[in-house]
Amino acid sequence: MDGSLKPGATLALCTLLLISLLLIYFLSEKNPSASITDKPYRSKPPSAIHEASMYRDELEAALEGASMANKTVIIAVVNRAYTEGDKPMFDIFLDGFWLGEDTRQLTNHLLIVAVDQTAFERCMFLRLHCYRLKTDGDDFMDEKVYMSEDFIKMMWIRTRFLGDVLRRGYNFIFTDTDVLWLRNPFPRLTLNETVDLQISVDRFNGDQWSQTNPLNTGFYMIKSNNKTIALFDEWYMQRNTSVGMKEQDVLVELMHKGVFNRLGLGVRFLDTIYFSGFCEDSRDINVVSTVHANCCRTIRAKVNDLINVVHDWKRFRDPSDNKTMDFIWSNHLACQNSWT
Ligand SMILES: *[C@@H]1O[C@H](CO)[C@@H](O)[C@H](O)[C@H]1NC(C)=O
Ligand SMILES: *[C@@H]1O[C@H](CO)[C@@H](O)[C@H](O)[C@H]1NC(C)=O
Ligand SMILES: *[C@@H]1O[C@H](CO)[C@@H](O)[C@H](O)[C@H]1NC(C)=O
Ligand SMILES: *[C@@H]1O[C@H](CO)[C@@H](O)[C@H](O)[C@H]1NC(C)=O
Ligand SMILES: *[C@@H]1O[C@H](CO)[C@@H](O)[C@H](O)[C@H]1NC(C)=O
Repeated sequence: MDGSLKPGATLALCTLLLISLLLIYFLSEKNPSASITDKPYRSKPPSAIHEASMYRDELEAALEGASMANKTVIIAVVNRAYTEGDKPMFDIFLDGFWLGEDTRQLTNHLLIVAVDQTAFERCMFLRLHCYRLKTDGDDFMDEKVYMSEDFIKMMWIRTRFLGDVLRRGYNFIFTDTDVLWLRNPFPRLTLNETVDLQISVDRFNGDQWSQTNPLNTGFYMIKSNNKTIALFDEWYMQRNTSVGMKEQDVLVELMHKGVFNRLGLGVRFLDTIYFSGFCEDSRDINVVSTVHANCCRTIRAKVNDLINVVHDWKRFRDPSDNKTMDFIWSNHLACQNSWT
């Protein structure tokens, strides 16, 4: 018995060895190329298949690095225009986390998605979690004025990317960089199992379940499940049939056509008392979590008026300041004037 088995065993061993060698070969083939394509982004474009696998690996690593224990991340998309100027918008955004209540630790879970090289380098310089989103040859460096063609294109790339994040099983809060985080928003977000999406609004109609609320995609929390993935798929599919519409308008249209009900999606609309904006100021600074520079057209105007919000906040937090007078938000003149 022993003798007759031996040749067979040797053959099996040889096959195993061959397979291992092949495996090692293919694995080592992959890894060095990863570190090479990591650095020079302007080098030759790798093949499409290679690109796809790289994308998955880098994104997975970025998500893992920023994730909380329960697979939740905070995502912001940044381009060069947001890193420029005397007081860049990106810096004001980060100031919010520094000045806010219980917000500093949240930057550990903040993933910055850079759509151009400058934004990526700025992010790395600040030692944040950074991911470079490559966009079919286009870089989205310059200011994208509201509703310009590039603005809309960038919004769609963002939508596709965020759908990918859901597909990888990560829940996230998406935040525009013109949102100041003044308090940790998690305590204001419900853990109700049936709620899949919690989204900010321009004006709150008083009913958190009412789909007549004017939603705003500048801030929302979304869970990863097959319903939300289906929503993002459907949303992104609309891009060609919705020429000249930004993704937010498309989502509003889908909502009015009943997409949330059809997919069985639990959607909660966030009260502006907690999730404030320039369209409708929070009526209580004692509970406000975020302030969005919505109803505003240019970055310059947003920066101007958000700096005023930072001053409001500092005034409110100053213990020596006289609190007997009612707090009033400064007005948002630059934003009001940005439309004319
Ligand atoms: C994930 O964990 C954070 C921090 O503990 C918590 O605030 C948040 O509500 C959790 N999110 C979900 C979806 O459970
Ligand atoms: C989601 O998955 C569940 C089972 O896990 C299934 O019953 C349900 O039909 C799916 N929903 C959608 C929208 O695919
Ligand atoms: C949308 O249009 C682009 C080019 O503008 C095209 O490549 C793509 O296949 C179209 N997608 C759908 C779903 O029609
Ligand atoms: C949970 O969410 C659903 C909507 O998805 C709502 O109808 C229900 O009242 C909520 N439950 C609680 C306890 O808030
Ligand atoms: C605070 O303001 C109120 C009314 O403006 C005034 O009566 C009060 O003396 C002030 N208190 C301090 C400590 O300045």
